[in-house]
Amino acid sequence: MHILFATGNKHKVSEASEILSHLGYGVEQLLIRGKAPELIEPQAEGIEEVAISKIKQARELVMGTELEGSIILAEDSGLFIDSLGGFPGPYSSYVENTIGLPGILQLMTPETGRRAEFRAIAAVYIDGNIFFGNGICEGEISEEISGEMGFGFDPIFIPDDGDGRTCGEMSSMEKSSISHRGRALKAVSELLNPPSK
Ligand code: IMP
Repeated sequence: MHILFATGNKHKVSEASEILSHLGYGVEQLLIRGKAPELIEPQAEGIEEVAISKIKQARELVMGTELEGSIILAEDSGLFIDSLGGFPGPYSSYVENTIGLPGILQLMTPETGRRAEFRAIAAVYIDGNIFFGNGICEGEISEEISGEMGFGFDPIFIPDDGDGRTCGEMSSMEKSSISHRGRALKAVSELLNPPSK
């Protein structure tokens, strides 16, 4: 079964491809006239609403093209920091591009603790239905930026299910086995029909 992933983030495409290929699904980035479409992310909503909005936008783009019957995957994710009331949450992309990782580290205080979690929701459109899978990865914000792998907040996030390294210090296979995205994609894949190989 072939899935088109509506995202501009190539890291997400390779993570999803790695996870779903083990389960028998092929994943490719959705390209319209050779380009990843720029999908608008409604900023004030939860990640579920953002994922649904991305599916709707992608469906409009493929309507009337040869991709109209394709299975489409959309995903939304974010970093939720306990002591900041869940910030940056749905604003994660914006925060990453503005104050960045150093800005997040500056917001941490010894009194409030460093607990945080990544959350992801994967939405798959297939034959007029949308299936959802959720994934959470709990952990802590590190003291320092560390690691060059992954993307986004990986170099400042130490998952509980790891060995003390940040996600930025893990291979993508290690990260995917415990990540929010890995869990969300596994959950949604279980709802789809078993792929015919
Ligand atoms: P979006 O799902 O593309 O809106 O991603 C939101 C933002 O959350 C990204 O720009 C990253 O800052 C952050 N994020 C989501 N997933 C990850 C991850 O697996 N590692 C690191 N940062 C992530």
